[in-house]
Amino acid sequence: MLVYAGALVAEALSVNADLNTLMRQMAHVPLTDREGNQMETIRDVAVIVGSLRRDSINRKVANALAELAPAGLKLSIVEIGQLPIYNQDGDDNSPAEWSAFRERIRAADAYLFVTPEHNRSVPAALKNALDVGSRPYGKSAWSGKPGAVVSASPGAVGGFGANHHLRQSLVFLNVPAMAQPEAYIGGADKLFDASGKLVNDGTRKFLQDFMQAYVAWVAANGKS
Ligand SMILES: Cc1cc2nc3c(=O)[nH]c(=O)nc-3n(C[C@H](O)[C@H](O)[C@H](O)COP(=O)(O)O)c2cc1C
Repeated sequence: MLVYAGALVAEALSVNADLNTLMRQMAHVPLTDREGNQMETIRDVAVIVGSLRRDSINRKVANALAELAPAGLKLSIVEIGQLPIYNQDGDDNSPAEWSAFRERIRAADAYLFVTPEHNRSVPAALKNALDVGSRPYGKSAWSGKPGAVVSASPGAVGGFGANHHLRQSLVFLNVPAMAQPEAYIGGADKLFDASGKLVNDGTRKFLQDFMQAYVAWVAANGKS
């Protein structure tokens, strides 16, 4: 009975794995319309928000970026607040949350980091997510996929310190980060209404242009 149950689980896992592979492959197949004209490939962008706060400004920025994304990109936020603090002792027997996160990061075509600044650096939760995804040694989930960084703060400097500390880690993680346009969004607490909608036209135009540059960056640096 146990053996049978085990076989069923193994079969379910293998079907699941096949489906995952298929979906990943499909994401890279150029789609065609009814006339056979080639349509755009859709890239799966994992959006990492550096704040765990319920009313996070950065999450609102991430939502605005998802709305403004060009048709060739599908943005979805990958949560990081549930990840236990990284400890190398867990490499041989990782918590389920680490494994699921690594799998999701590995499946993505590209990354978009949207983060506040904590004490002129990256919030601990975001650094933890980078570390979890980077291990075990030699099996980093991040490596080789393009990324970009947006930082937002109520302060005038717009999270510049966090933005650049994050870029330093991305160099080591082999995530080529888009250089221009830089995105340090200052005064960010004034940009959204009570429902979380972006209400500043200048910022909307800036984020739109940012996403146009990002889609080109992903196309140029992503795996085809
Ligand atoms: C521990 C901590 C450290 C902070 N350090 C900075 C900082 O260095 N620079 C800055 O601009 N804002 C700093 N702030 C203020 C954050 O920018 C502000 O709380 C912002 O709303 C956080 O982003 P969120 O709304 O997405 O959570 C800090 C906030 C906290 C809680």
